[in-house]
Amino acid sequence: MSEHARKAAQIIHARAPNRAPRCGIVLGSGLGGLADRIEDRTVVEYADLPGFPVPSVEGHVGRLVLGTLGGVEVACLQGRVHLYEGHPASAVVPLVRTLRLLGCDTFVATNAAGALDVDATPGSLMLIVDHINMQGQNPLVGHNDEAFGPRFPAMSGAYDGELQQRMRDAAAHLGIPLREGVYMALLGPCFETPAEIRAFARLGANAVGMSTVPEVIVARHCGMRVAAISVLTNLGAGLADEVLSHDQTLHFSGLAAADLQRLVIEFLARS
Ligand code: HPA
Repeated sequence: MSEHARKAAQIIHARAPNRAPRCGIVLGSGLGGLADRIEDRTVVEYADLPGFPVPSVEGHVGRLVLGTLGGVEVACLQGRVHLYEGHPASAVVPLVRTLRLLGCDTFVATNAAGALDVDATPGSLMLIVDHINMQGQNPLVGHNDEAFGPRFPAMSGAYDGELQQRMRDAAAHLGIPLREGVYMALLGPCFETPAEIRAFARLGANAVGMSTVPEVIVARHCGMRVAAISVLTNLGAGLADEVLSHDQTLHFSGLAAADLQRLVIEFLARS
């Protein structure tokens, strides 16, 4: 897995030798538009990078976009790996470690999620302050490559306090309401049952989704500072009178995409 990352970083470096990205970004369902805002771009298809799986879900493409955003050099993963596609959690390792090898010391994750707080309006944004891993898998299982990080990495403070504050300041400056909460990652691909949603709310989750946590674990393991934002595309199952669907996820993430883009760009500009 780390060998894939080393080779991928070499390929990217050969294609774009003058790039020095500082911030890695991963884009969630329907949020790919942020990559289109990247200026002075170099695009590398995942298909050209060893260990980079080609995503299969609508709303995701598979390419790495390098360039500047908010005046900062970024490397943006447009398309991610989901465990429900059948990948092991370790499949996220090459993607995130490649960002690290390219020089990124910060990782910004975005995702679409269901809200467990009934006052959350679909299309609103939530700053992730902590997570609960309910996927039953961990991307660091197996051999540990000490060159990247320790066998037993700590996960307190996974979502960097200073970056959280920068995100709050950016949102306040732009007048974008920003909720805060705990993100729970589930395996999917089913949406949850109403009973599960009630149970997860009691466990302390404010939002549920099917991504992000494996990437954050790998990013923290190799020493990147992490900030993460959920677009709340719906209320969790049973909290509203509706049947959940991926179309709805894409619809509401599309509505919130403009706010998310402005927020991330302002966040970067303040770094
Ligand atoms: N559950 C899980 N993942 C999701 C949801 C949800 O309600 N909405 C968007 N992604």
